[in-house]
Amino acid sequence: MDGLDALKQRYLDGIANAADEASLEDLRVSAIGKKGEVSLKMRELGKMTPEERQVAGPALNALKDEIASALSAKKEALGDAALDERLRSEWLDISLPGRPRRQGTIHPISQVTEELAAIFADLGFAVAEGPQIESDFYNFDALNIAPEHPARQEHDTFYMHRDANDNRAPHVLRTHTSPVQIRYMEKHGVPCRVIAPGRVYRADYDQTHTPMFHQLEGLAIDKDISMANLKWVLEEFFSAFFGIEGIKTRFRASHFPFTEPSAEVDIQCSWVDGQLKIGEGDGWMEVLGSGMVHPHVLRSAGVDPDQWQGFAFGIGIDRIAMLKYGIPDLRAFFDSDLRWLRNYGFSALNMPNLHGGISR
Ligand code: DAH
Repeated sequence: MDGLDALKQRYLDGIANAADEASLEDLRVSAIGKKGEVSLKMRELGKMTPEERQVAGPALNALKDEIASALSAKKEALGDAALDERLRSEWLDISLPGRPRRQGTIHPISQVTEELAAIFADLGFAVAEGPQIESDFYNFDALNIAPEHPARQEHDTFYMHRDANDNRAPHVLRTHTSPVQIRYMEKHGVPCRVIAPGRVYRADYDQTHTPMFHQLEGLAIDKDISMANLKWVLEEFFSAFFGIEGIKTRFRASHFPFTEPSAEVDIQCSWVDGQLKIGEGDGWMEVLGSGMVHPHVLRSAGVDPDQWQGFAFGIGIDRIAMLKYGIPDLRAFFDSDLRWLRNYGFSALNMPNLHGGISR
């Protein structure tokens, strides 16, 4: 067959000189593509005599193979060259110092809540939670606060809006974490030992009050739990929390509808040159409310008060965070002011645990 050598040479030269993959592809199409020169020649085989075909067939196949392999060899070579070029031109200076990134901090409330959970876990208390939107049954009635009880007014409760013909039981933003006592005992029964940290709400705003704040509820129910156990647990807790051995507490008789007897608990402190020191001196600071769980409360949670008894307490997380870390104004806790957060926030790596010591 005439002209095959010339055709072959033309394509091999073209492939050798191709500068990029696009021109290689053009060459492939015009040589061995469906309507390429080699393919058209192959179509002519049918018109040949058998003798001619015996010569031309293998020659065309060989030509097609040769062009195809020249194409793929060149394609690979172009790829290698491109990679070499990138390796030469693209580089990173890995000795450059990184750009500093602003890091967030752990909010003191989150930190202190973790501290509390670690300390109480060590004393055998599990963590429980309840809803922030609570029925007024759980928030009040079940806790022995009857509808006409003055404590309802004292709590400055936020009531959820109800339409005029909506007769569902009223709901409130919970005013304390005490309803978790009822929910926990209902669900898990007794004996139990739990703490319930969380947000609570009251319509109040000044240097030491915000409409949303945090409490930690404690509850321990068993056959023979007494006020003595309460006192020991609280003294252990305060000593661990403030990092001071042997902090003393003082119990003052008080009244809460959900406990009988009830006590407000003070911790030992001193004021020196206007500076508050916890765990020393002969001053006292009120820090929590507590008592023996009232039989009515046990009964509302389905627990038989003739068989079971125990203590409960409620403490303001924000208050003790302010005391421990010397933060003067509660309102600033919730202003999201970055300067405040950087100053009073904690490193994410500073996880509270008893082995590292709770205090910083
Ligand atoms: N729920 C009370 C409050 O918010 C605090 C409290 C007092 C909780 C005595 C208790 C308790 O469990 O025994 O004011």
